[in-house]
Amino acid sequence: MSYYKVHSLEQYFKHYNKSLREPRKFWDRIADENFTWYQKWDKVVEFDMQEAEIKWFLNAKVNITKNCIDRHLAKRGDKTAILFEPNNPKEEAQHISYNELYDRVCKMANVLRSQGVEKGDRVCIYLPMIPELAVAVLACARIGAIHSVVFAGFSASAVASRVNDSECKMVITADGGFRGNKTIALKEIIDEALEKCPTVEKTLVVKRTNTNVNMKEGRDLWLQPLLDKADANNVAEIMDAEDPLFILYTSGSTGKPKGMLHTTAGYMVYSAYTFKNVFAYEEGDVYWCTADIGWITGHSYIVYGPLLNGATTVLFEGVPSYPDFGRFWEVVDKHKVTQFYTAPTAIRALAKENWEWVNKYDLSSLKVIGSVGEPINEEAWHWYNDHVGKKKSPIVDTWWQTETGGIMISPLPFITPTKPTYATLPLPGVQPVLMDDKRNEIEGNQVVGSLCIKFPWPGMARTIWGDHQRFKETYFSAYPGKYFTGDGALRDEVGYYRITGRVDDVVIVSGHNLGTAPIEDAINEHPAVAESAIVGFPHDVKGNALYGFIILKESGESRDRENLKKEINEHISSHIGPIAKLDKIQFVTGLPKTRSGKIMRRILRKIAEGDFSNFGDTTTLLNPEIVEEIKDNRI
Ligand code: WT7
Repeated sequence: MSYYKVHSLEQYFKHYNKSLREPRKFWDRIADENFTWYQKWDKVVEFDMQEAEIKWFLNAKVNITKNCIDRHLAKRGDKTAILFEPNNPKEEAQHISYNELYDRVCKMANVLRSQGVEKGDRVCIYLPMIPELAVAVLACARIGAIHSVVFAGFSASAVASRVNDSECKMVITADGGFRGNKTIALKEIIDEALEKCPTVEKTLVVKRTNTNVNMKEGRDLWLQPLLDKADANNVAEIMDAEDPLFILYTSGSTGKPKGMLHTTAGYMVYSAYTFKNVFAYEEGDVYWCTADIGWITGHSYIVYGPLLNGATTVLFEGVPSYPDFGRFWEVVDKHKVTQFYTAPTAIRALAKENWEWVNKYDLSSLKVIGSVGEPINEEAWHWYNDHVGKKKSPIVDTWWQTETGGIMISPLPFITPTKPTYATLPLPGVQPVLMDDKRNEIEGNQVVGSLCIKFPWPGMARTIWGDHQRFKETYFSAYPGKYFTGDGALRDEVGYYRITGRVDDVVIVSGHNLGTAPIEDAINEHPAVAESAIVGFPHDVKGNALYGFIILKESGESRDRENLKKEINEHISSHIGPIAKLDKIQFVTGLPKTRSGKIMRRILRKIAEGDFSNFGDTTTLLNPEIVEEIKDNRI
């Protein structure tokens, strides 16, 4: 029996139980039967959850791009691998076949090598959603360079801190990017960032918008002329199973972004397996995930997962609202998309518009529709189910994280009965547990707790780049021996999971994971600001929005408040990016603090939500009187 694909609910339980009883045999079988290896492993897994040391498929040798591309050429050479749909619907879509993808990735890999990039070097990729982004990612993997994709909405200083943290040798960028009716000057942002990045030797620049750019002599090169001269064959680097594949930064509850490190074989096996099952992928399907490759969703479910399965994956440059609110559905209709994967924030934004935008198009090609990034509220779930899925295409509400590498809890379409707002059941190989405040595992159903995972899975991140101690402390110390997700969850009477949200200082705004600490750090750098505290509050479209409580310095007291608010938001935009802007800013004279000096965010959260009913125990506050003041002046 193959374990690669689950076909029925009965088989799901069979596979699940097998993966519990014999996880090694389970993954051994999947890895063995579905990939091409230069050399197989000596041991399936070795781990120490106390020390956060995890290794999968020890001593195996593999190259993930051989699995994504080369092995498909004989049977699927002319099949479309990447279907590029440009921002402007008047620009023609591009069908990039597996043959063509092979040529383009090999050429790019040869360019990288000729520009001095070697196995183990870090390459920062700062590109819009164009085919070159996927090609650059794969070219790095081909030669064993570690890609670090930085979302092209991040500001110069956010890029600089990421480039410096992983000491990138090269940056791949574009003159500019199209997004709706805007053009974003990406090269200009990179120029500013690189003033502070001593490790970067070369930048390769893709021409996309024909924006005028500065090319720094000796550092900056246009990519196309180099590709034109490059050889279309490239011998893939032989990688060890645990060689790093990529770094991807995610926000944490303390200042610095965390460079999550994913390695080669485990990530490959896990992204491929989860893609196949969660999207019920079959040959001939046209799969579309609307995320950006700058996030983990794009890594695992635009690039690697689909290509590993020989699928056609749509790469969409645009936004849901341009040129109008029918754009998503127009693309589904035009390309006869079979699987559609998006975020609750997009669903809520579209649900606010007239549903005629959806009904204008033929969505009958859809088989499975997915959701990811934050809890999906009941109203959005039903809108998605009724208007997009037409009550026929099951919704897969997929819970996972940058750190998990792939989907962990999700219905399997046509197999697991769905339930609104529930991510339902763990995939085979995933062992979730709920923990109480006393660090005990909560048994049974109809319970709530902190969500942990008690056994390793192949796709999990192995460390934080350059800071294993932080990796251990963040994920493996709150509940010793277990991986702590940072999320709270409940388990219903049949064992279905519903993720209720973060239990730490991370706020999910429009599906973007934002740590409050880095935003506070940025605000506190403003000359008029003494101190600040940021919390999330519920928002119709964004899921959560940010509320800032800010104490001014004496020198700031005389300043015009509205101007200050603008300046603070501009400051956040330039330090982190526009996604981290505050919706509400309230100037306060103090913040509720415990005797040990910790801000009591729980109270601020309640005030931001407008819920004054029960602040809980405030007896440990140093300054309880401040709560009244903040409450009375709430915005
Ligand atoms: C956090 C991870 C995984 C790719 C996108 C986000 C939240 C994610 C769901 C879901 C409820 C979800 C969690 C998680 N989250 N998917 N289906 N239901 N919450 O990756 O930026 O690493 O954020 O997103 O809070 O911990 P990320």
